[in-house]
Amino acid sequence: MAGRIFLSSPDVGTLEESYLLDALRSGWVAPVGPDLDAFEREVAARAGVAAAVGVSSGTAALHLALLALGVGPGQVVVVPTLTFAASANAVVYTGAEPVFVDCDPETGNLDVPLLLDTLDRLGGQGRRVGAVMAVDLFGGCVDYTALLPACAAAGVPVVEDAAEALGAIHHERPAGSFGRVAAFSFNGNKIMTTSGGGMIVSDDVGLIGRCRHLATQAREPVPHYEHVEIGYNYRLSNLLAALGRAQLSRLDAMIARRRRLRERYAKLFAPVPGVRLLNEADTGSNCWLTTVVVDPEGAGWSATDLSRWLASVDIETRPVWKPMHLQPVFARATRFVTGAAQHLFAHGLNLPSGSALTDAEVDRVEGAVVRFLENR
Ligand SMILES: Cc1ncc(COP(=O)(O)O)c(C=O)c1O
Repeated sequence: MAGRIFLSSPDVGTLEESYLLDALRSGWVAPVGPDLDAFEREVAARAGVAAAVGVSSGTAALHLALLALGVGPGQVVVVPTLTFAASANAVVYTGAEPVFVDCDPETGNLDVPLLLDTLDRLGGQGRRVGAVMAVDLFGGCVDYTALLPACAAAGVPVVEDAAEALGAIHHERPAGSFGRVAAFSFNGNKIMTTSGGGMIVSDDVGLIGRCRHLATQAREPVPHYEHVEIGYNYRLSNLLAALGRAQLSRLDAMIARRRRLRERYAKLFAPVPGVRLLNEADTGSNCWLTTVVVDPEGAGWSATDLSRWLASVDIETRPVWKPMHLQPVFARATRFVTGAAQHLFAHGLNLPSGSALTDAEVDRVEGAVVRFLENR
């Protein structure tokens, strides 16, 4: 057997090497520089917004986005329960409290009618809602056509957690353009990477300026070191931005490769009763991760059975995010749940989806799934 196949490993090569070496040789090592400026402009353009600031992670991006909106103690932020912990952790960093809302069973994204009901109920309880965090799960945008007017009517700003969704589209608009402010992640497993990094984007240039200030230790623009508030050391480095620029120039090709992979999975599972791909109808998804959802009664096997079989032939899979309201750390958090996220956690499985997978590796995954299905 030819080594382990991972879920979503970094897709880097000679282009990334040359961008990084050029940045190193240019002397712009410590820490900002022209590649960072250019990377910010390029990501803003890709997201169709006016401004961006590069930061050290997607989590830092969410933290500062919330702070810049004035979110803090005494407020709540509505967060989908089906997400990675960073979405909720960033809320806690500000001193606000996350309130969890369930997902739509078809897409895994925020259940918008339930969200509206939640906003009503929170209002009725006199709780101050600082923001709604909309997470574009696994690279598929939330139904912003429904969500944005509703949040606008409620007077609540939307923070778009687009950590997983760079390059995705909803009704011809790019991910990152929907929130009052949005966050991307360039973690090693994402659609593109800077090894670690993130970006805050918005049409509100003042808000991005505020994030930039907070990300650079809130240092005042005077010759000596002057600080009138607490800041953070959250900036992305020029070297990592150079890596990001190389990756961004290949983003469309990487998305296309992930999409082809999803199409192969769709074809493979289409004839299998009780099995579907999560959010398969979303043609604007960047296809970051492809998720299979298995009804064990209909299929005669479970997502765990498939996962165990693939692990036995050295192929990595991963359960869908464990919902935040089921995490011990958030045991006491307020939640509005229907069971949809819990169902996806129990029956969903993320399959190898990386653009760095070679054709031979994709054939190996497909062959392993075929053998699994034949032996059922
Ligand atoms: C939905 C979501 N939000 C936030 C993050 C945090 O990004 P980072 O790992 O760059 O801090 C991630 C990924 O890690 C994520 O998947």
